[in-house]
Amino acid sequence: MTERRVVALGSGSYLPEKILTNEELSKIVDTTDDWIRERTGIRKRHIAAEGEFTSHLAIKAAERALEASGLTGPDIDLIVLATTTPDNTFPATATRVQAALKTKGFAFDVQSVCSGFLYALSVADAFLARGQAKRALVIGAETYSRILDWTERETCVLFGDGAGAVVLEGREAVGAPTAASGEPGIFGTLLRSDGNFYDILYVDGGVSSTQTTGHLRMKGREVFRHAVEKLSSVGEDLLARHGLKGEDVDWIVPHQANSRIIDSTARRIGASMDKVILTVAEHGNTSAASVPLALDWGVRSGKIRKGDLLLLEAMGGGLSWGAALLRW
Ligand code: ACO
Repeated sequence: MTERRVVALGSGSYLPEKILTNEELSKIVDTTDDWIRERTGIRKRHIAAEGEFTSHLAIKAAERALEASGLTGPDIDLIVLATTTPDNTFPATATRVQAALKTKGFAFDVQSVCSGFLYALSVADAFLARGQAKRALVIGAETYSRILDWTERETCVLFGDGAGAVVLEGREAVGAPTAASGEPGIFGTLLRSDGNFYDILYVDGGVSSTQTTGHLRMKGREVFRHAVEKLSSVGEDLLARHGLKGEDVDWIVPHQANSRIIDSTARRIGASMDKVILTVAEHGNTSAASVPLALDWGVRSGKIRKGDLLLLEAMGGGLSWGAALLRW
């Protein structure tokens, strides 16, 4: 069966109104603006209001992505929503978005923590390439403020709430684009996980284990070490599959967890920092929302233009990690 070409039509994002600065955080836990900025690059994060759920952030980001694509809800027949902080244990938060936007077809969630958007993109790409849907909304949306331990300075300073979305379309063109053709579309995605590292980044609660939601726990230094090594290798492997190198990429759109991880990873891939979209200062680590938030900022700020070659990459709990290569 001939695969369809999957093309990105537009992006959108949303950050909750309430901002929590490093300065304000230093009144809650024993930390300083200097420490947070020097170690992570983060200046502030956005916090969802009471009664504002992951689905609400997702709907706003999706509406903006639809508008940027010149489409409305009924033009969409697939939603894949990446989140670790769903409104309810079930049903999927994606179905709330489906009802609000009146999209057709089917909608479901994927859960792969900070690499969730890469997993969602990969799943949507496969459905569209096989013709099982025509147009997809791929969303990353999170309310991490609800699973943070606000007494633990090692973790609560790092995360924030937000959402980002991309609209994809499957076209009749034959297969994925090639590097030489200059045509838009997804070249490919590469996903990895290693459950041996389950315990270095996890939530200490869950439906089956404790019947509580739990709080995020992390061995920060270990995660840092894995992040640089795994993000650079998955990026290099994906580029190599398509006969490309870091220097061929117009923009790296990395998971926004820590500017030092982003810097070290870009260096290893062989791309300079002026080719990296960096937004972590503005919203901290928003987990699955982080890559589409950065992508949308890159597009709306005029940095990312039609025809640019993009390498998206992320790593998170699992450990799980992944990359996607596409021409915008
Ligand atoms: N404010 C002030 N001091 C702090 C804080 C804080 N918020 N947090 C920790 N410290 C202290 C520690 O107690 C320690 O003090 P000590 O030397 O007296 O023992 C000191 O700072 C150094 O602590 P480290 O944990 O060694 O600091 P490090 O340089 O490793 O930075 C950090 C910590 C920022 C968490 C880093 O390890 C990191 O970014 N890791 C990656 C984590 C991450 O991004 N996770 C997100 C999910 S996975 C992903 O997205 C890639």
